[in-house]
Amino acid sequence: MLLALLGTLFSGALLYSLYYIAAWYLREWRYRWPPGPRCLPLIGLPLMPSDLKSFHRVHYDFAKKYGSIVRTMIGPIVTVQLNDPKVIKEAFSRDVFVPRPTSWYFYFDERARINDGATGVIFSKGQTWKDHRGFILQKLRDFGVGKFKMEEKIVEETATLIKLLEAANGQPIDTRAPLSSTVANVIGSVLMGTRYAPDDPVFVDVMRWTCEIIQFTPKKVFLALFPFLRHVPPFSATYAEVLGTLRGFKAFFRKPIQEHLDNWQPDRNADFIDTYIAAVKEQQPATFNMNELQLTLDDLFEAGFETTTTTLRWAFLLMAAHPDIQAKVHAELDKNIPLGTYVKLSDKEQLPYTEATITEVHRFASIFPLGAYHAAEEDATIQGYDIPKGTWLQANIYFVHHNTDWWDAPEQFNPDRFLTGKNQVQASDNVIPFGLGKRRCLGEALARAELFIIFTAVMQRFTVHLPDSVQTADLTPTMGVLTDTQPHKLCFVSRNNPIY
Ligand code: HEM
Repeated sequence: MLLALLGTLFSGALLYSLYYIAAWYLREWRYRWPPGPRCLPLIGLPLMPSDLKSFHRVHYDFAKKYGSIVRTMIGPIVTVQLNDPKVIKEAFSRDVFVPRPTSWYFYFDERARINDGATGVIFSKGQTWKDHRGFILQKLRDFGVGKFKMEEKIVEETATLIKLLEAANGQPIDTRAPLSSTVANVIGSVLMGTRYAPDDPVFVDVMRWTCEIIQFTPKKVFLALFPFLRHVPPFSATYAEVLGTLRGFKAFFRKPIQEHLDNWQPDRNADFIDTYIAAVKEQQPATFNMNELQLTLDDLFEAGFETTTTTLRWAFLLMAAHPDIQAKVHAELDKNIPLGTYVKLSDKEQLPYTEATITEVHRFASIFPLGAYHAAEEDATIQGYDIPKGTWLQANIYFVHHNTDWWDAPEQFNPDRFLTGKNQVQASDNVIPFGLGKRRCLGEALARAELFIIFTAVMQRFTVHLPDSVQTADLTPTMGVLTDTQPHKLCFVSRNNPIY
């Protein structure tokens, strides 16, 4: 009986594999695919676990070899990398490439299931995406992003950061917790009217979950590509951890929503939750509801704080690694900003070297090396190549930032590359940290304001250096959805410029 059952299962699996392989070769033959490395049915690119640690370099090499558009396969999924800013902009400005893949990728299905079918903003499409994106951009403007109102809030949070760094008294500290809480409190106040101390246990949990959810581990990658593995140990344990994290986020964001509902005042409009609830009560737009609100908060909070924090961690590590560049930033700030005052967004024009340094941090660190996936909604073409419906697409931001054809010595950190002979900042179309096209980052204005104000305030106040026990900074990125720095500590030594 058992043998008969096993025999039937085996024959079924064999027949399915033969069907899959035949369909795969038919697809290969039918379309004019972009060039790319040889891939195998089901397995895709024969990647080694070590490749996951430098995934961006794997795609860098493909871009060098095959050009501005490359086809690869990750497991059974066909992906296309766009390696030229002009091609990225052209493709991602077209409606057909606006959607995101809605498979088990990044636990999309699980997240939607746990939240009664809601999609949030990052993974939404169609009318839900249009309504939410438009509303968020409008509300960020209303809450003063890019204006004095938001600047005041960032300065207020930066003052707390300065106190935390001062308290370390020049001893080595890990910048993750103080920077995370500063950035999280800016976005948290806009969204929910909340503040967290860096050691608040609730906040510590959220920080940990955010780090976990965006980390690549071979087990997570296998799970995302082959969802049936969720039933098979040891993948089932990883799956349970992911579910726990998703449920943790849900509970975290439900609480402030419930508090707002319990104390509802129609004209308050103090934060994003207030304005969204008002829209739900007016049933305008129809795609708005409380589950969408909760996932939209989750998306904005996670996308908003980990990205900006990671960029700042790189900025201070790079300053410690390059004391000569740090000295030039100090000199420019000291010359142009009176002692005892903080830098304002309107001071940017007087601080070209500092501005060039922040741009170089974006380029060098390329924290979102392959951007967020898009998916073709219908059969389409790019540069004459076929992109069949369902193909996943990525902007190869790391390659654009490091291609030796466009940059001299791209592995060197050198802000001068963005300055003209007249000491003015020279923008480059080849710096695209926020992506391009219809789905480009909608927190760009907020992120730029935070980076400028926090970076300059810390530079005015401190000299940053490596602990005495560390000879050279390790600038190898960690690999995940975001590329963070290696774990490190830095010393913030007071420059006796009492601003706050
Ligand atoms: C240095 C900081 C940041 C970087 C480098 C960054 C980068 C990016 C990139 C590359 C994308 C993908 C674009 C695409 O799909 O083609 C993106 C999307 C997004 N970002 Fe950011 N981001 C940053 C900060 C922020 C902040 C502060 C917020 C929140 C206020 C935010 C919210 C979002 C959202 C919601 C999306 C999805 C947009 C959509 O799907 O329509 N980001 N970001």
